[in-house]
Amino acid sequence: MTGGWAADADLVVVGSGVAGLTAALDAAELGLRVVVVTKDAVDAGSTRWAQGGVAVVVGDVPGDSAQAHVADTVEAGGGLCDPAAVEWIIGAGPAAVTRLRERGAVFDPAPDGRLARTREGGHSAFRVVHAGGDATGAEVERALVHAAGGLPLLTGHVAVDALRDERGVLGGLALLDDDGRPGVLRAPAVLLATGGYGQLYSSTTNPETATGDGVALALRAGATAADLEFVQFHPTVLYTGPAVGRRPLVTEAVRGEGAVLLDRAGRRFLSGLHPLADLAPRDVVAAAITRRLAETGTDCVYLDARGLDGFARRFPTVYAACREAGVDPVREPIPVTPAAHYACGGVVTDLHGRTAVPGLYAAGEVARTGLHGANRLASNSLLEGLVLGGRAAQAVAADRHTRPAPAGAHLAPSPAVPIADRTVVQRAMSRAAGVGRDAAGLAAASDAVEAATAVGVPTGRAGVEDAALTLLAQAVLAAAGTRTESRGCHVRTDHPGRDDVWQRASLEIALDAAGRPRVRSEKVVAV
Ligand code: SIN
Repeated sequence: MTGGWAADADLVVVGSGVAGLTAALDAAELGLRVVVVTKDAVDAGSTRWAQGGVAVVVGDVPGDSAQAHVADTVEAGGGLCDPAAVEWIIGAGPAAVTRLRERGAVFDPAPDGRLARTREGGHSAFRVVHAGGDATGAEVERALVHAAGGLPLLTGHVAVDALRDERGVLGGLALLDDDGRPGVLRAPAVLLATGGYGQLYSSTTNPETATGDGVALALRAGATAADLEFVQFHPTVLYTGPAVGRRPLVTEAVRGEGAVLLDRAGRRFLSGLHPLADLAPRDVVAAAITRRLAETGTDCVYLDARGLDGFARRFPTVYAACREAGVDPVREPIPVTPAAHYACGGVVTDLHGRTAVPGLYAAGEVARTGLHGANRLASNSLLEGLVLGGRAAQAVAADRHTRPAPAGAHLAPSPAVPIADRTVVQRAMSRAAGVGRDAAGLAAASDAVEAATAVGVPTGRAGVEDAALTLLAQAVLAAAGTRTESRGCHVRTDHPGRDDVWQRASLEIALDAAGRPRVRSEKVVAV
């Protein structure tokens, strides 16, 4: 990259969702000069689409406790959660939610004046606080965007690469604007809060922005990723016929408040499968639906919410999406199917957002802290973004006195990277790396991605995204091929059971000398 503009900051935050804006606000309060960069509009990320809520035990809730929340998280995570991370993040939840409310987020009240709570899959208690009925993410995003109104914000700029000085010290970020013009933000610290990679799949709950840019950038900068094979499929998105792109979510809270799943013949099929039946953890429900669809040769199952009182008031977002699709959830079961939803893995960080690369931090869905293990518990994602966003800001402030100051970032040309056709990648991943994978399918998907790949220099946002999706596809396929067992969201039809060999083994991915993602090691998760 040559020419273009350059500016300075103490911290560049990439991404403007819950983790990024929380970090930016906290860092500014700590006296840091922060710039927030986002490749699209400020609210175009995944946060605003979150429906269910924030899982947190606020105050004295009879029949619930932080310990129970920890236990549910660990249970859902299929043996791969890092218990220290789970306890620590859940323990920090109430203060993080209080801070968010101080910043203006309004949660739904219960009749007794406390916060209303709902329930979702895998939760043993009603502990998910929500806003606007089923519009929690939209309210969180609104409040944070409003609170961050005074911070420098660069929209329409995609992050290309981390920059280093002559000694290898991280010194900033290379960017491209919507017209492909380059720029550089010089800063000793960069926080990635770029969200996940749901756009690896043809059908997803994620917006168009969820292309894995942060994971790809971190891997190219020398960081490690882990648990990438655990792509969570949400069991219930509205089925409106074969379609690609973002699909409307039907929040698990609908089941939390009494709706049940039915197959084409009107039979319930989750009772007997798990003690929580229709409210089993998400991986169990998504896999059961996928099996039932194969058995019955159909494209969707049905969510029967006809017995719920005040559906339109309690779930206005879902109600509107259903009505737009010609479905009346008050009178008829809602056609639903699973779709790619959440990246349980990501860039490996400590509990302060630090990656293996000094100066590079990550928080939110882009990061892998150990909270989610093999399957994230519902509504733990906004929680993690709030908690880790704040902790990363503190870490950046603390670290700036201990790290060498970058001597000035090079405006080095962007390296050529593998870039595959996005549609080919999405089709290959949807066919072979969804719920139900096997060795032959994974190998065929790798071949398909390889055949569609050419090496080039991204010249704009689409190229940066395609390069990230290509790298993520290679990495997910490598991890999914290596883990010869079924665990959490990773379902291998050729290895249908859990294998103790993999118990507590988290697959770490790094780039080799040729820039290809390789499974580097099996990190033993703390017991
Ligand atoms: C939902 O509301 O069902 C999704 C919430 C989440 O992904 O945690």
